[in-house]
Amino acid sequence: MSKPYDILKELNQQALRAGGEKRLEQQHQAGKLSARERLELLLDEDSFVEIDRFVRHRCQDFGMEQKRYLTDGVVCGYGTIDTRLVYVYAQDFTIFGGSLSATNAKKICKVMEMALKNGAPFIALCDSGGARIQEGVESLGGYADIFLRNTLSSGVIPQITAILGPCAGGAVYSPAITDFIFMVKNTSYMFVTGPDVIKAVTHEEVTKEKLGGALSHSTKSGVAHMACDDERHCLQMIRELLSFLPSNNLEDPPRRPCQDDPRRQDAELLNIIPDNSKKPYDVKRMIHAIIDNGHFFEIHPSFAMNIVIGFARMNGQPIGIVANQPDVLAGCLDIAASVKAARFVRFCDAFNIPILTLVDVPGFLPGTEQEFGGIIKHGAKLLYAYAEATVPKITIITRKAYGGAYDVMASKHLRADVNYAYPSAEIAVMGPEGAVNIIFKKEIEEAKDSETKRQSLIEHYRNTFANPYKAAELGFIDEVIFPQETRFKIIKSLDMLKNKRESLPPKKHGCIPL
Ligand code: HXC
Repeated sequence: MSKPYDILKELNQQALRAGGEKRLEQQHQAGKLSARERLELLLDEDSFVEIDRFVRHRCQDFGMEQKRYLTDGVVCGYGTIDTRLVYVYAQDFTIFGGSLSATNAKKICKVMEMALKNGAPFIALCDSGGARIQEGVESLGGYADIFLRNTLSSGVIPQITAILGPCAGGAVYSPAITDFIFMVKNTSYMFVTGPDVIKAVTHEEVTKEKLGGALSHSTKSGVAHMACDDERHCLQMIRELLSFLPSNNLEDPPRRPCQDDPRRQDAELLNIIPDNSKKPYDVKRMIHAIIDNGHFFEIHPSFAMNIVIGFARMNGQPIGIVANQPDVLAGCLDIAASVKAARFVRFCDAFNIPILTLVDVPGFLPGTEQEFGGIIKHGAKLLYAYAEATVPKITIITRKAYGGAYDVMASKHLRADVNYAYPSAEIAVMGPEGAVNIIFKKEIEEAKDSETKRQSLIEHYRNTFANPYKAAELGFIDEVIFPQETRFKIIKSLDMLKNKRESLPPKKHGCIPL
């Protein structure tokens, strides 16, 4: 008879390769790592502590009682990333395709509850065929139990998902509730209904990759925040993302020692904005020139590129950046950009991350597509998110701030704390050309030389309104600054705002126009 220690040793050995060598080989052949290999790459060396290794399913149907693998297809536990505690689960595709059973869902819920109770981020590594078909509604219930916990944890602890294989049907909704979704090119896909169902219902033919691959979701739907080249890259990106985030909503984001001089002036900032205000430029050049060591962790880099969002540090303090991108659609706000930025602003607000907003926006994108798509309610989301946010908010108008977009982009009126403008700022109801054509229509028509008259009126309008001084006169802009001073001005403002306390009227929750 085996000694007790031998039994434990034997069970541990079994659990580590519960899906068997053949399926592990198939997993590797498919270009994917195993659940345990992924955890090794994600977490600090030797930090993983597994929970519920010996759990097995209890299904008695379809011969399942003969196949009761240890772990039941999901590896759960906790470990550290850069020495900070995180909770994690990794679905194991080598056991029933990583499908979700009742017991498997219980394991996941257990670590989710521990993450919430202990105020540490929760990370899901998904690679699953979905609901365990043999278990029917028990499995569906398991999904709903997870969705509920995702929702309760939202805004309390950061939740991050990596999609590293299939994720189909209702299974997509747990990742969708989490704060960030990372996908891997060519090996991961997400969809509510797959290509076969689509073909049967709509006769459309589409591949899995085109329908729900990493590129589709990171460029078209915006469901994925990042499309990574391979799994190693993906897990590394998650580690880096966490370096900007606090472990929970009661903590401040972690500061780092800063090697970049806070007073550093970058002469390039004087040359980025073209003299001709109609010319585009890349706002990322401006961001890189301002932040610590030019290191910008961009979120959603390939989706709604007319707005740029991401994390950076200023004198070691993590901040969130929202910037209109004049290089794409002239930096106009449209539906996708509004929703992208609104969600980011709310995330930063939930996790005490100050927001820097760089404004160069000619307005909302005109057109029936936008109006029929609901730009009114989607644009309102961004307005709402900024108005509601109580974290330190610093805004710099670098060039255009026209119309409603002036109000929306963290204006003083939405409780921004510090509002700067560059001398090149143009703050008005609309651009000089459009404004003059409307308010001086008659004068232009009646003039002997209409075009000369029009140009002189445009010049007059530009001098009167299309500058920062009218807004500064009213106190809507606190200070007009030289571009090369930007970095130091922001750092000083962040210091000044470090103990900011502001609250909302008591309420259950607001009714953001979803
Ligand atoms: C039980 C499953 C399974 C599932 C896969 N397997 N999916 N077992 N329930 N949902 C098993 C397979 O039987 C197989 O077991 C092993 O996992 C690997 O699967 P393969 O098909 O051989 O792998 P591959 O060719 O890579 O295809 C992967 C796949 C395919 C595309 C995911 O397995 C598939 O289409 N599965 C079904 C997907 C599905 O319809 N799920 C339900 C979605 S609805 P053996 O023993 O042969 O190795 C849903 C609702 C959620 O999830 C609702 C929440 C509200």
